[in-house]
Amino acid sequence: MIEPIRIAGETAWLKRYPAGGRRRLRLAAMDAFARRLGLRPLRPPPHHAGADARAVEQRRIRQLQAAGVRVPEILGAGRDVLVLSDLGPTLSSRMREAADAPARLDALTGAAIEAIGAGHARGGYFGQPWPRNLTAADAGIGFLDFEEDPLDVMPLADAQARDWVLFAYGASRYYAERPQALTGMLGEALAQAPAEVEAAVGQVGGRLRPWARIAEALRHPAAHTVARAISILGAAAPLLLALAMLLGFDLLHDGELDLFDLLS
Ligand SMILES: Nc1ncnc2c1ncn2[C@@H]1O[C@H](COP(=O)(O)OP(=O)(O)O)[C@@H](O)[C@H]1O
Ligand SMILES: [Mg+2]
Repeated sequence: MIEPIRIAGETAWLKRYPAGGRRRLRLAAMDAFARRLGLRPLRPPPHHAGADARAVEQRRIRQLQAAGVRVPEILGAGRDVLVLSDLGPTLSSRMREAADAPARLDALTGAAIEAIGAGHARGGYFGQPWPRNLTAADAGIGFLDFEEDPLDVMPLADAQARDWVLFAYGASRYYAERPQALTGMLGEALAQAPAEVEAAVGQVGGRLRPWARIAEALRHPAAHTVARAISILGAAAPLLLALAMLLGFDLLHDGELDLFDLLS
């Protein structure tokens, strides 16, 4: 739960961390699925609630800040609240505005890809870097939302591979008409990534390809997004992904894509 507030004439964000939800079963199901398919980068990190979630986000913001990544300043902290500085409009809102302006869209996407790569090169990882959790302002690309820590369940190379997969999935919806443009940018970035990271991304793609076909066959509107994500990632050579099926699990609480819905 987050809301914008004003502090001394400036926008800030008051983020509250509610007490535990009922995601345990779903997380266990997703974890079993990811392990079973050998998709380590897509294992769901443990979900934290309340003061725990606040502590994880606070620690992760500090780590990333120390690594030189643009994340919000922590303006205040309570037991289960943080007050965060404003990083400007989300990347998703900027991408939506640029939907009909390919050069602008690619510039945004390219900047985000560069920022992810730069953060990784400094030992960072993000966890859920889809466009809604990135910001794009004159000052550059920023990163948000760190209540979960992938390193709880996977090594750094897998966490970085996860970032690429999630970003690719999130960005794919803006590239329905020009999948190769996205594929090309991602492919270049992955070629610069450590071999382990590139291999882990490729493995995710390979393992998920059969699922992609299933998804494509489903005539649910959400399935189109999935199929699109897949064709984009499938094309990005070692790149991946029919993974959206899996991500569907993870996205349930974000209301973006519901795996069960998709399968029903
Ligand atoms: N520091 C910030 N600067 C700009 N926008 C923010 C900031 N923090 C949150 N937001 C906005 O609030 C939304 C939700 O915040 P987020 O930290 O991702 O929480 P949630 O866990 O609910 O997804 C973001 O997608 C963004 O639109
Ligand atoms: Mg978020």
